[in-house]
Amino acid sequence: MSTTAIQAVRGMNDVLPEAGERWDFLETTVTECLRQYGYRSIRMPLVERTDLFVRSIGEVTDIVEKEMYSFIDRLNGDSLTLRPEGTASCVRATIEHNLLYGGPQRLFYLGPMFRHERPQKGRYRQFYQVGVEALGFVGPDIDVELIVMCARMWRALGIAGLDLELNTLGSTQARGRYRAHLVSYLERNRDDLDEDSRRRVHSNPLRVLDSKNPEMQALIAQAPRLLDDLDEDSLKHFEDLQALLRDAQVSYRINPRLVRGLDYYNRTVFEWVTSKLGAQAAVCAGGRYDGLIEQLGGKPAPACGFAMGVERLIALVELERVAVPVNPPNVYLVQRGVEAATWAWQVCERLRDSGLSVIMHCGAGSFKSQMKRADASGARFAVIIGDDEARAGKVSLKPLRDLKAQALVDVNEVAALVRAGASKK
Ligand code: HAM
Repeated sequence: MSTTAIQAVRGMNDVLPEAGERWDFLETTVTECLRQYGYRSIRMPLVERTDLFVRSIGEVTDIVEKEMYSFIDRLNGDSLTLRPEGTASCVRATIEHNLLYGGPQRLFYLGPMFRHERPQKGRYRQFYQVGVEALGFVGPDIDVELIVMCARMWRALGIAGLDLELNTLGSTQARGRYRAHLVSYLERNRDDLDEDSRRRVHSNPLRVLDSKNPEMQALIAQAPRLLDDLDEDSLKHFEDLQALLRDAQVSYRINPRLVRGLDYYNRTVFEWVTSKLGAQAAVCAGGRYDGLIEQLGGKPAPACGFAMGVERLIALVELERVAVPVNPPNVYLVQRGVEAATWAWQVCERLRDSGLSVIMHCGAGSFKSQMKRADASGARFAVIIGDDEARAGKVSLKPLRDLKAQALVDVNEVAALVRAGASKK
């Protein structure tokens, strides 16, 4: 058997404890914010039928064409896929469990997504999203709620300098009209298109506008604008949305080229972008998908949502040097002697009963080495138990972060003394 160390799969990362503190901070901050707006959590499986993503994200998209981790279930031959995003699964679950029967739903989920992209800074093959879906609302008030909530999250996370880009894709009919105009423009300029775009002229022309190829940018800038083909209802939706955003004092920039890489969107689309992370500028993105619920077999209902890329936000938290709360234990328990061992167990549990976090020294070790561990743990106090303390039914409380004296105290006193930061009254 080989004993060579096995490494993680490319593009799939470990989050080590120190970074874990930033992740905890982000997750608690964001979920607290979601709770403030009345969003409730939903958890979907990581694996779904491949068809779900083909039908929702769209056959001619990068995700479905080349990025999905799909495999055949050996037992029954079904084609399954590791979820590349959460919206399709969330809509599937909503339909399957009749969630909209009880009225509109505000939902969120948090977890890993999988895309077989070329890994680079800010782009991974397993990455985490916090996804938020508001199902059954026509908007634009809910569109604005989602955006305002994002802005609150950025403030709560201490992240400054994110820009909001906004566009509307209009109704299906308006998009159809626009598509025809765009296709004829692209046909006229076929010789200047790159290979990818040429392939997309008829299958997914709007995605040509999303090309990152620098040589395509001039041609894209000259292309007809979707805004000019917009239907009246979508235009009104977009104008109302902007008025509400101005009321809420959220600044934005209209980007007529913002089309998004998934096919289910209509009307409002938006992205929060940063200039601090190089090529991976979008930290959060979403929009309306009013047709998706019906398209996946549900009763027609409008919907809107977004997802944020956790790794990218964590990178910003690091860049901005946001002070992230670290939670060292309140107490490290040091023990010596035979009688001490039994008493130490009881003390630890009693201290935890009173709400303290306690690390009990496990494994043998000299007093000196145990005290070293206590110091390294970051705890403010060591509780020391030797046979003398055990016999007296007491503990010694030793401050580790200042020069105050060690004191022999009753177990019942420890929690109050630790909270007061003192070893005696
Ligand atoms: P998306 O734009 O594909 O939208 O992804 C949302 C965010 O996930 C991106 O803005 C980015 O921050 C992050 N992200 C995407 N791919 C990667 C990757 N390979 N590595 C690291 N981060 C990544 C969606 O997924 C939609 N489901 C959003 C949505 C929800 N729309 C409506 N509801």
